[in-house]
Amino acid sequence: MKRIVRGSILHFVADPATASAGAAWRYWDDGALIVEDGKVARVTDHMALQPADMAAAAIDDYTGKVIMPGFVDAHIHYAQVDVIASYGTQLLDWLERYTFPAERKFADPAHAAAIAEFFLDELLRNGTTTAAVFPTVHKASVDAFFAAAQKRKLRMLAGKVMMDRNCPDFVRDDVESAEADNRELIARWHNKDRLTYTLTPRFAPTSTPAQLALTAQLMREFPDLHMQTHLAENRDEIRWVRELFPDAAGYYDVYAKIGLTGARSLFAHCVHMSDAEFALMAAAGDSIAFCPTSNLFVGSGLFDLKRARAAGVRVGMGTDVGGGTSYSMLRTLAEAYKVLQLNGINLDPMRAFHLATLGGADALGVAEKIGNFAAGKEADFVVLDLAATPVLARRTSIAGTLEERLFALMTLGDDRSVFATHILGEPAYRRDAA
Ligand code: GUN
Ligand code: ZN
Repeated sequence: MKRIVRGSILHFVADPATASAGAAWRYWDDGALIVEDGKVARVTDHMALQPADMAAAAIDDYTGKVIMPGFVDAHIHYAQVDVIASYGTQLLDWLERYTFPAERKFADPAHAAAIAEFFLDELLRNGTTTAAVFPTVHKASVDAFFAAAQKRKLRMLAGKVMMDRNCPDFVRDDVESAEADNRELIARWHNKDRLTYTLTPRFAPTSTPAQLALTAQLMREFPDLHMQTHLAENRDEIRWVRELFPDAAGYYDVYAKIGLTGARSLFAHCVHMSDAEFALMAAAGDSIAFCPTSNLFVGSGLFDLKRARAAGVRVGMGTDVGGGTSYSMLRTLAEAYKVLQLNGINLDPMRAFHLATLGGADALGVAEKIGNFAAGKEADFVVLDLAATPVLARRTSIAGTLEERLFALMTLGDDRSVFATHILGEPAYRRDAA
């Protein structure tokens, strides 16, 4: 199966923050992405295509649109589809009042399956093709999610949430059941098609040291499993961790001491971190999910991308629905820009779109498979309409440079700007489908 996809094509080969000028991205104003058997064969100028290239190929003509690698959401909770836009609380109250009751419902496989379908539809409508996803404590929630993702041929990371204390009975597990459930789910799902099993202790306050130690033991036993959790999001949470783990030097040290850090470990938020902690994260090879809409909505604080990147920590962008307020990576980049404004940093659009694509893939440890259009990578991509609304169309029409157009897109765009989303080359969503 061969496809030729025509349009303006942009992808990243390095981080614009560190690469020399112009070396971080490639852009073809009238380009052709050639896909064979779901993988990128190459990208070229459309004019340079030969008759042999066109032979027996399906053609997608997206002239006038911008084609980028699919967006990577580094942190999102599929079980919080119905939690989004919950009023009036910060993290710890928000969990008790809205989140745990919503997650309780995922003990029911039919509910989990229905929400998984809604959730994946919504990701594709927003151009997101890979995500690091939190289900719930229930095994059924993981089965439902992975089954829905596998059916759609998506590259996804997820795993059973572990929490064995400081939460209601109806979302609580214990060390023994967590071990048995994880082992069963790893055998069923890990490395099946494009799925990556990801150990998911919710956060330090809801896991006993014994459960965190179990997680570390599983990471040692299965060296290609990933791990995701939350870290240093909210000040009350941090105080609580200090009480619960008096022997740790700080919140990060709780995870580090017990062996949960490393190149396959992903920490959401990291809003309140010292330079020394960022340096330890970089030395360990950890990644961070920066979740600006959530950090603003739940009132957590302002993530400092400059300090994190200066220390050398990998960072991806997370929507963190339902603490976050949008599934859209474009909305998320817009809020990231504003958060960083308040920290005295300008997030230039090239850096922003790198974070949303190759940077996110790198943070999730899947950059060998996705994140740009290097030959041989899986051809997941998004087709963006820079004239999707009257305001965006007008602003784009007077923009002088590619950077200016992309900045308008990330500032003014949302799901309306996603014209199409393709998975392994094949169309999976089209905005104007009848
Ligand atoms: N910390 C622990 N659990 C959660 C969660 O579900 N959402 C967010 N934003 N932070 C958390
Ligand atoms: Zn979260």
